[in-house]
This record gives sequence, structure tokens and C-alpha cells, in this order.
Amino acid sequence: ATGALALGGGAIATWIAGAKQDTWGEVDFDSPLLVPPLAESTLDASGVRVFDLDIQAGRTEFKDGPATDTWGINGTYLGPTIRAGRGEAIAFAIRNDLDQATSVHWHGMHLPAVMDGGPHQSIAPGDIWTPQWTVDQPAATLWYHPHLHGKTADHLYRGLTGMFIVDDEEAGALHLPSSYGVDDVPMIVQDRTFNGDHQFEASSPLGGSLGVIGDEILVNGTLGPYFDVTTRLVRLRLLNGSNARLYHFGFSDDRPFSLIATDGGLLPEAWETDRLLLSPGERAEIIVAFTPGETVDLRSYQSEHGGALGRFDGFADRLDICRFRAAATLADETEIPAVMGSAPDLDGAEAARERSFVLESDAINDQPMDLGRIDFGVREGALEVWEVRNGNGFVHNFHVHDVQFQVLTVDGETPPPHLRGRKDTVLLIPDRRYRLAMRFSDYTDPNLPYMYHCHVLQHEDEGMMGQFVVLAEVPSGDAAHAHS
Ligand code: C2O
Ligand code: CU
Repeated sequence: ATGALALGGGAIATWIAGAKQDTWGEVDFDSPLLVPPLAESTLDASGVRVFDLDIQAGRTEFKDGPATDTWGINGTYLGPTIRAGRGEAIAFAIRNDLDQATSVHWHGMHLPAVMDGGPHQSIAPGDIWTPQWTVDQPAATLWYHPHLHGKTADHLYRGLTGMFIVDDEEAGALHLPSSYGVDDVPMIVQDRTFNGDHQFEASSPLGGSLGVIGDEILVNGTLGPYFDVTTRLVRLRLLNGSNARLYHFGFSDDRPFSLIATDGGLLPEAWETDRLLLSPGERAEIIVAFTPGETVDLRSYQSEHGGALGRFDGFADRLDICRFRAAATLADETEIPAVMGSAPDLDGAEAARERSFVLESDAINDQPMDLGRIDFGVREGALEVWEVRNGNGFVHNFHVHDVQFQVLTVDGETPPPHLRGRKDTVLLIPDRRYRLAMRFSDYTDPNLPYMYHCHVLQHEDEGMMGQFVVLAEVPSGDAAHAHS
């Protein structure tokens, strides 16, 4: 993986100059933002909520002219938003109508490994996969996507991505903006490169070892989107659904906005900021206040980590994302409550086990992913602290299945406000030490693993991933038990 290394600052500057957006304002914002439909469901005789999903190939018109070959779920591109409440028993019938195997992973969900949808739960062409579990975690913005080993980047890039909103009573009782598609708006942000025939290009000059870095931005599959604002406060559920690109979100007038939730749910209190950096797989819920009649653009700006990420400056630079057009009068019935969620309060001093992970060279701790190797077992119910480090200065982040973790410290310091809530994915600024506390509970399986990996999809596919099992009992000296 040396492609990106070989690209010096000069090459990137040239690429940016030749890209679609080298200054602000080159996007026309002439398409209404598509809002993914809410998935329909039925209650079966035993009260289980059942969703039918159909994974299919199709063609999608993103721009005038030829349509693009895409994949989608219950449609030709992306999938419906799934919504379920804490405590609900849910089930899926997921039919794979593609001509190749895929899988559906529930990113951020606490659930049994056999339902996780990772690389061991492949769905063959024509087959139907029927996972089911009871939702048991706080209200949050989660998402779903394929996870076959070596195929994840390709399958997501073609369009297999959807949002999964978990509701709970506590969040429902707050007066947050919560009218789906009106003042509570999902935003799946993705970069794509189109060729002359409007087909997705799976590589780009800047991509290098990161795979593709697209030069056009889709939000919910809309190119050049605008959203008509009808309320003073609007909640945006931002998902970085890109393969590799970072977004450093902000508004064109630098207005402040309130971060109210991170990957795993609401923060104890809103944090006001004017910039927010999200790496692939991360989510954030923000609330933006509008005044009647105004127009403002959501963009991605160069991040303060440009220096630390060195040659990657361009990745978060100068992108127009979505235009917001406020109506002449705005409804004003929601608020940002002073107190929202509860703070995660894991105490690192109580850790039963510490582990460390270094991400570099298509491997974690020098071990490339092997579907037949379980890297370690964790004991059910025990608190673990994982120290994670980006060892080679490329763009990496770290995602763990089944849990939401708490970032205890970054290089020994209290983490910045946007990393203090529940997280399942965290950007690894090169060489900083991230101490993550987590507890795996409820579900044990000695044979079927969960994954941890870099969510830059090409890195994941190339082997920057490992597997762990959750055990009722851990044999002493468990460091890495072999598994065949
Ligand atoms: Cu978003 Cu292991 O995945
Ligand atoms: Cu990586």
C-alpha cells in the first residue's frame, strides 16, 4: 500500500485544480434532496416487527444523460431507512437478487454475532437471510451495509448503504426536531467519480491506497442537493457513507451549530461548534438554527489536521455538500434541551484486560485479516481497555462491532467534546494513542467472531481487520487462541 505515499503535495494540488470543485460555488444545487423512504414493516403473529429487504442491481439517473449502473435495497440506489424502538423484537427477510454473494452488517448495533452480518454471514445469490434480535440500546443513528471480506469497498460504492434509526422513550420525550424528512433529516454523504458515460469509477488519481476519492458529492443519492427548510431548528443525521473521504463539515457563513449525538446516541448536553470532522462510518446528529428567507450551504472544509495528515489535506477540502433554503416563515416548536442523554462513565481503572492495536501496512499488529483466525476472546461482562494507534500516518480509523465504546483519553488527555459520547468508530490521527473503554455483554459465542477494523474500506478489504469472540469463560493465558 504505497500508492498514496508516492503522491506528493504537488500531485495533489494538480489533482485538486483539475477536479470538479476547486473553489466554492461550482455546484448548482438544483435538485431537491432525496430523503430515503422509511422501510415498511409488518407485525407477525408473535409481535415481531418484520422488514423485507431486496438487494438488487439497477440503473440510477444522477445527472442528465445516461443512467448509472448501481445497486440498491428495495430500489436502485441506497436502501430505505429502518426505524425501530428500544425493546422491540425485529426480524428481516433479506433477499439477495444480485449475481454474487453479499452480506448486510448492522453498523453500531448490539446484537448476537450470528446476526451481525459480517463476513461470516454471506448471502448467496437468490438466498434469503433472516436475522432477528431485540433492539436494546439507546436511541441513535446507526446504519447498514455489506461486509463480505475483500468486497466491502466495491459493494458500498455501488450503492448498498442505508440508515438505521433506533428510538427510545427518553429521547422521544425530549422536544428535539423529530419529524422525519421535515426537521429531522438523514444525510448519507458520499463521494463518487463518474466517467464520461456516467458510470462510477472505482479508482481515482488521489485515491492511491485509499481506493477511490470521488470528486462529486452525493447526499442520499442526490447530486447538487438543496433542502427547503420550514422550521427554525433542523436536526441533520450526518453519516459519512464514503469509502475513504473525510468530511470536515461547516456552513458557508461559519454559523455555529449544536452537536447533539455521536455514533451511539445523544450527548449529555449539546456542544456548540462551527466545524465537525467525520471519518468513514462515523455519524453525528447536529441541530442547525435558520432565520426566515435565508440561504446557506453545508460544506466540507480543510481540517485542522491537514498538517498531521500531511499529504491528505485535499480530502476534506473545498466541497459543496448541500444548500439549505429557509422559507419566509418558519415553524418554531422544538428546542435543544439542556439535558439530553447520559454520559458514558466507564472507569478505565477497573479494566479486567488491556490490549493494544497498531494499524499499519494492511494489517493490525502485523496480522493481516484471516477469516480462519480468531485473534482473541473477551469475557462477557468484563470491562476492557483497548489502546489503538495509527502506526504509519495514512488515513485510518477504528471500528468495533457489537459495542459502543468510550474514548477515555487521546494521548493521555481528555478527548475533545465530539469524542466524549458513545462511539463505535473513531478517526486515528497519526501516532496519537486512543484509549477506548468497552464492555461486551449479553451475547456469547465461542465460535462466531465479531470484527474490529479500519473503516477506510480498501484498507479493511486488504486486511486491516481482526476477529474476536465473546466468551462466557475465558481460559487463562487467552492472548490469541488459535482457531481452525
Ligand atoms: Cu461499518 Cu465492520 O463495519
Ligand atoms: Cu486505514
